[in-house]
Amino acid sequence: MTTFTRKLALPGAFSVALLVSCALAGVSTGKEGKSKPAPEVAKGEAVFKQNCELCHYADRIDKKLGPGLKGLFSLKELPSSHKPITEENVRAQIETGSPNAKPMPMPPFKDKLKPAEMDALIAYLKTL
Ligand code: HEC
Repeated sequence: MTTFTRKLALPGAFSVALLVSCALAGVSTGKEGKSKPAPEVAKGEAVFKQNCELCHYADRIDKKLGPGLKGLFSLKELPSSHKPITEENVRAQIETGSPNAKPMPMPPFKDKLKPAEMDALIAYLKTL
């Protein structure tokens, strides 16, 4: 009798746990989704307007002075250098720029942006 109940109870408890964790996972992806916390994205947008908009469109892929950045993080590779799209490569691009690009270089932003501004900018670029 005891072994019988144990056999039944164990998988039962297991599937309840599984259901609960699935439900929790569902709730959290639904909430967070693609979008980052709004204040950080808004801050990143301000950083973009101040530092990048001069040369890059945020809402188009065609070229201004540099390539349009709409959908940047959904691309497979960076538009000019063709490096794979990773947060690391995008950060590196922003930090070092493309000082030797012709006909138009991109300046480095390593000393212009604070780490928090850089993080916010990345969060914003991911929403484009
Ligand atoms: C003075 C103009 C200018 C400014 C300001 C500028 N960029 Fe650029 N950017 C360029 C040019 C030109 C290129 C293309 C360089 C090349 O052909 O290698 C470029 C390329 C890029 C690329 C693609 C790099 C690749 O490897 O394909 C990204 C991403 C980028 N810029 C992001 C930014 C961000 C974010 C900012 C603001 C912090 C910014 N840029 C500011 C001119 C600029």
